[in-house]
Amino acid sequence: MTRVISVASGKGGVGKTTIAANLGVALATYGEETVVLDADIAMANLELILGMEGKSVTLHDVLSGNALIDDAIYEGPSGVKVVPAGISLEGLRKVKLEKLEEVLERLIEDTDILLIDAPAGLEKDALAAIAAADEMILITTPEVPSISDALKTKIVANKLGVNIIGVVINRESHDKTFLTDNEVETILEVPVISVIPEDPEVSRAAAFGEPIVVKNPKSPTSNAIMKLGADLIGEEYQPIEPDKKGVISKLIEGLLGRR
Ligand SMILES: Nc1ncnc2c1ncn2[C@@H]1O[C@H](COP(=O)(O)OP(=O)(O)OP(=O)(O)O)[C@@H](O)[C@H]1O
Ligand SMILES: [Mg+2]
Repeated sequence: MTRVISVASGKGGVGKTTIAANLGVALATYGEETVVLDADIAMANLELILGMEGKSVTLHDVLSGNALIDDAIYEGPSGVKVVPAGISLEGLRKVKLEKLEEVLERLIEDTDILLIDAPAGLEKDALAAIAAADEMILITTPEVPSISDALKTKIVANKLGVNIIGVVINRESHDKTFLTDNEVETILEVPVISVIPEDPEVSRAAAFGEPIVVKNPKSPTSNAIMKLGADLIGEEYQPIEPDKKGVISKLIEGLLGRR
């Protein structure tokens, strides 16, 4: 039975696409047949984060009736399957959102986990992405506006009968103005299933079109995402320790002025 999980938030820019992309790679690494669908049809960027831009057939073409979904599935890092939404405005204009259900029916065949990268907000496109899934991972940053919007999304998901697996707090830093994990849990009444640190390497990895779990697997960010993936499928996760010898050698090299 395929699990269909939306990665949703409420507020924009909190890390849905970053987490959907990297979680997809993590799950594929564990041997799960995983598809990541970019359902952010107006502001797509999953393909950019995964370095898969410029594909000839995208979800736009499928939803406008000009192509078959089978032709819009591409193999990404670690064997994760990716359906890019397409970034052209012209393609977006012709999209018929009603076709999404039919597309999903085909996508879940031969798939263990379908991750849906949802758009921000609660407009028609976001609702379609949320309603298409049976489960949801709610993403928020530890800031009040982000949590307030996550709460609205949670309420809508509950009304639609979607099971919220938990909340991921992204971009955590020890800023005193941010809410604590316990406070987030209390406000949302949803368990915190992962805490991902603020990490400048995330946007660097995105700029290279490489998922951080591949580019920098020993980082706390990658460990957090790999563990989230393992937890989702009930696997034990052994964190990858940063290479201490490497750090010390680098320190000595730095002190001695060598490169
Ligand atoms: N843990 C992190 N540390 C630092 N930067 C991050 C982190 N997670 C995401 N970002 C950055 O935040 C920005 C927004 O991330 P992303 O596109 O994944 O969010 P989103 O919720 O999908 O946005 P949208 O609502 O526009 O679809 C990107 O520049 C990304 O590199
Ligand atoms: Mg996004």
